[in-house]
Amino acid sequence: MKAEHRRQAGSQKIAQREGARAIRLIPGNSNNGNRESATRPMTVLDFQKMKDEGRKISMITCYDYSSARAVDRSSVDCILVGDSLAMTMHGFPNTLSATTEMMAMHTAAVARGAPSKFIVGDMPFLSYRKGLKEAMDCVHELMSAGAHSVKLEGVRGHADIVRHIIDSGVPVMGHLGLTPQSVNQLGGMKVQARTDAAVELLASQAHELEDAGCFALVLECVPAEAARKVTELLKIPTIGIGAGSGVSGQVLVYQDVLGLNPGFKPKFLRTYASAFEIIHAALDSYDDDVKRGKFPSENESYS
Ligand code: KIV
Repeated sequence: MKAEHRRQAGSQKIAQREGARAIRLIPGNSNNGNRESATRPMTVLDFQKMKDEGRKISMITCYDYSSARAVDRSSVDCILVGDSLAMTMHGFPNTLSATTEMMAMHTAAVARGAPSKFIVGDMPFLSYRKGLKEAMDCVHELMSAGAHSVKLEGVRGHADIVRHIIDSGVPVMGHLGLTPQSVNQLGGMKVQARTDAAVELLASQAHELEDAGCFALVLECVPAEAARKVTELLKIPTIGIGAGSGVSGQVLVYQDVLGLNPGFKPKFLRTYASAFEIIHAALDSYDDDVKRGKFPSENESYS
């Protein structure tokens, strides 16, 4: 056997072995310590199973193809293509500028990069408040782009739209607490449910979303005790951001986790890398090499 053939046969065997190993990995089990992509995205049934079994769900936002490839290789359970992309990817001051077109384009890029992850597509500002047809057009766009479910904020005045989406076969994730699309109504990005009455309202809206058929619920910026209480009252899992540890899982923004958003340091955030500094240093080194004639070398040039 020629050396090249031996090498190819060897890599094929490794690929088969790795493939067989990947099939054994259980999606949604972040305790398996693997760094390989699972073979299939988790499903809404896995979300419920994880809550029932007391296993935490990890979710991260993601907006583009190359980041999605990194998430796909990680053991993080699922992806939210959040409307926060209006800020992280487009530089707007809040999420109100996200459109269905933007959400669908980013969802499609993420779906291409992370085929093994369950993807939640965020319905943008007012897309579910203009009527059923407009809401369903948006759902259609996001699902056609590769989302496995959609997320929308609040419940007052659109519970019937939530029901209709679910009755159409599309899983819906709710979102209560700080709902950034209502930033002007809330008077800023403030912690919610700070009084007994507000906790009661949060619990009743959470019940309404569960009764409507939501498979999970994001709780954003609420006191840990309020989030724990709502989580215990509900059958469906809660995914917290700034909601303490008594929830069924956590979601953070990709750029925040990696330290790509220097200066943004809310109390709830833990940063796991200093990627902004790493990128900055790499770009300066590249510039320096170019300027000093050290890049490209002979090895990096064609003869
Ligand atoms: O858009 C987003 O990133 C979100 C999360 C903060 C939950 O809705």
